[in-house]
Amino acid sequence: MTAHSIVYEGKAKILYTTDDPNVLLTYFKDDATAFNAQKRGSIAGKGEMNCAISSHLFQLLETQGIATHWLGRPAPNEMQVQAVKILPLEVVLRNIAAGSLCQQTGIPLGTVLKEPLVEFYYKNDSLGDPLLTPDRLRLLELATPEQVEQLRSTALQINQVLTGFFQKCGITLVDFKLEFGLDANQRLLLADEISPDTCRLWNQADSDPSQRVLDKDRFRHDLGNVEAAYRQVLDRVLAQPVQP
Ligand code: TMP
Repeated sequence: MTAHSIVYEGKAKILYTTDDPNVLLTYFKDDATAFNAQKRGSIAGKGEMNCAISSHLFQLLETQGIATHWLGRPAPNEMQVQAVKILPLEVVLRNIAAGSLCQQTGIPLGTVLKEPLVEFYYKNDSLGDPLLTPDRLRLLELATPEQVEQLRSTALQINQVLTGFFQKCGITLVDFKLEFGLDANQRLLLADEISPDTCRLWNQADSDPSQRVLDKDRFRHDLGNVEAAYRQVLDRVLAQPVQP
């Protein structure tokens, strides 16, 4: 299938049309940004690694009954996906306190949460992707109340599948960000990517707070060995079959 024009270019991916209007092609770039693109860089091989990791995880989720946009991986950096209208929401799920949760609440880094925390952020770079309260979510009408409930329950279900999978990889799934879209039939599909760019992943074999980090926090906080961390995630993820 040949790629045509650019539909959208984001910070880490480019979305192309194909000759089928229901199918798009996502090209994963090596570019990396952090803190709303105030920090910019490149992670060698990231595009291929994130494309491979995401493809594997989307297939895993499909086997567990989660509807995703994933259709195929025609090239190392390319993912074929169903065309969806992305909801302007970032759904964040947290199992362990880290990142902005610690900064904004004072909960110490590494605190295991009594139950998974689901948060909704407004996907809007010019506003800095603000955290939404339930009332603001209703006010903005970014999704119907039914869709919001579906997003919450799907995120919790995804968390169960991914937590178990990463456990088998010797990795703790600390938190992650999801994006969803609606297909032509208004069906909600998991979209975007699931990768070390969008998850916090800690190596269970290492208790050192900076050594254990196997995700984009290595880039965000200049911890070094970014490529090697992504490669470890890739190798461990691909070693586990998608069928349980
Ligand atoms: P946070 O602690 O910075 O709010 O991040 C929560 C999770 O969301 C973490 O796994 C990283 C991911 N994330 C993204 O994928 N994109 C973003 O722009 C941000 C801020 C976080």
